[in-house]
Amino acid sequence: MEVKLDVPLLTSSIGKKLLMAVTGLGLTFFLFGHLAGNLLLLKQDGGVAFNEYAAFMKSSPPIWVSEILVFAGFVMHIIQGIRLTILNAKARPVGYKRNKGSANSTFYSRFMSVTGTILLIFLIIHLWSFFFKHKLLNLEPGVDLYTAVVLAFSNVYYTLFYVVAMVVLAFHLAHGVQSAVQTLGWQINPKVARCIQNIGYALAVLVPAAFAMVPLYILFATQGIF
Ligand code: HEM
Repeated sequence: MEVKLDVPLLTSSIGKKLLMAVTGLGLTFFLFGHLAGNLLLLKQDGGVAFNEYAAFMKSSPPIWVSEILVFAGFVMHIIQGIRLTILNAKARPVGYKRNKGSANSTFYSRFMSVTGTILLIFLIIHLWSFFFKHKLLNLEPGVDLYTAVVLAFSNVYYTLFYVVAMVVLAFHLAHGVQSAVQTLGWQINPKVARCIQNIGYALAVLVPAAFAMVPLYILFATQGIF
């Protein structure tokens, strides 16, 4: 007689969701720090403060450790996201259209995998432009990071690509933060749940909007609009 237990599937699914939640929230915290550094690009000092910050990021061993953690966080989040999407697709019950809750979770799972894939493409292009080309491989010797960033965003298409990516990030965060908090069981009562949801939505709008402000500001400044 074959005994089939569903528990390992269940636990592994919960385990995957937990890892998604923890890495997702960790990456959201990374975004705060990254945004603070990026806002130095708006300082009217010819890039002095931003280049000093970039030099510090390059020379500080604790920062290298935190960057390795951030990269590990991205890798885990992406791999688990792909595995969870596959698992959700396989676990989808037949006739789910009759069940609204299940249809919703399928919709959000698909929504998160689509927005996540767009963000992955953004991240690859973004890391190549600044992190690998300039910081790690120094492929343009003599060009400091501030100049590289200004040159990149003086291109209207490149800036447009960033702005679109930030809109996608807003949607990804809007569902992601709320879903992570739910997975971690922090919504102890309806009032707290509503409060957390509102904070999540506010973050999802404010953080990408502040990120998008930098390329737009540089584009307008280089076109002589400001
Ligand atoms: C739209 C505005 C953004 C600008 C102007 C920007 C700019 C930069 C720059 C200049 C670097 C190189 C920093 C250095 O070498 O010290 C960098 C690195 C990085 N960026 Fe961004 N970034 C933006 C948005 C984002 C977003 C939304 C994400 C994540 C989804 C992200 C993820 C990263 C990562 C993982 C690194 C490498 C680690 C690090 O240097 O901290 N960036 N970014």
